[in-house]
Amino acid sequence: MKYISFGGIKQNWREFFAVSKVFFSSWHAAGLENNKLENKLCQYTGAKYCICVNSGSSANLLSLASLELEKGSKVLTSGCGFPATLNPILHLGLSPVLVDYEVPSYNIDLNQVEDALKKNQDIKAMIFAHTLGNPVDLDIIKKLSNKYGFFVVEDCCEALGSTFDNKHVGTFGNLGTFSFYPSHQISGLGMGGAIITDDEKLALKIRSMRSWGKLVRSTQFSGDHLTDYVNEIDGIKYDDQFTYETCGWNMLLPDACAAYAKVQMDKLSNFVRRRKENYENLDSLLTDVPILKMQIHPKSNPSYFGYVINLTKGDRDRFSDYLISNNIKSRPFFAGNITRHKPFRYLFQEFAVGDNLMKNALFIGVWHGIGKKEIKYMANKIAEYFDV
Ligand SMILES: Cc1ncc(COP(=O)(O)O)c(C=O)c1O
Repeated sequence: MKYISFGGIKQNWREFFAVSKVFFSSWHAAGLENNKLENKLCQYTGAKYCICVNSGSSANLLSLASLELEKGSKVLTSGCGFPATLNPILHLGLSPVLVDYEVPSYNIDLNQVEDALKKNQDIKAMIFAHTLGNPVDLDIIKKLSNKYGFFVVEDCCEALGSTFDNKHVGTFGNLGTFSFYPSHQISGLGMGGAIITDDEKLALKIRSMRSWGKLVRSTQFSGDHLTDYVNEIDGIKYDDQFTYETCGWNMLLPDACAAYAKVQMDKLSNFVRRRKENYENLDSLLTDVPILKMQIHPKSNPSYFGYVINLTKGDRDRFSDYLISNNIKSRPFFAGNITRHKPFRYLFQEFAVGDNLMKNALFIGVWHGIGKKEIKYMANKIAEYFDV
């Protein structure tokens, strides 16, 4: 039997032809395919603006950078989960305020968020993930951001397609970010990411920052340029394309990746439906197993990333060895307590939930490449392990 993976890619000739078209064209950098993908993401999520980038990590970094917070400003995030929300805070010389996760939502602990906001009235922004596709309670986030006044970046890298109160995640905060790394809801031929926002100024700034910092006048790709000395710097006429207005990076998404992801976008609703069916099917088959199941907010409709198994009994490592000996691949609960890892030791804190998840939790796949037979097989093997 083949391995049942926690994630993967599903593709056919459509992605192949879309990528081939770019291959045989004369433009391989970010171009028209990026435009099309950005428009599709706007249509799908309901956001006004979208900027594609080369990864979800870049999307988080550019989002925070676009807020232009003073060095040392406090930014709230979790000390648990995937480190891509903490890293950009540190890269930008900002000061992280860390709080724990909470079970059974497996998301940032909103009571601790409120306590931190009370204690640190100077928190300028918050960045948090909708973990495993399960939306954080966005009513509470809205209430807190209105009350305390801070920017909100929603990291939706595990949650493309998830909604809260019938609205796409990523559209509640000032900015929302996505990842097209393989194993996420859609793939971008190896990598990719995007940022959505309704704020035109932020959108233009991010467009500039992802393209070496150059002057950006439009939210659409305008084609290969002819030298055009329309700008003036200290009285010197200068080409728009070599005029800089931000201190940027090159975080552009190659057009072959955008073309691939654009085809995946056409399939996304189907992928999300398959993930949901798999998740609910597996969940219903695991009723008697001693695990702490993920709780979904009544207003949420998740686009599931994986199925978390948090053992209340037994040894996680033995369980994961058992799974792999039965051809079921699993992953630990991301970094667990991030501050236990080497680069973050200087921020060390004990997080009761993060520490517990680090020891006792893992997740397995429910992605759109898995079928009913595999779900049943996984459920049977898990039940056998726990002897239920
Ligand atoms: C919550 C979260 N944020 C950000 C990222 C980073 O995305 P990428 O791998 O595209 O850089 C990931 C990646 O898996 C993630 O899970």
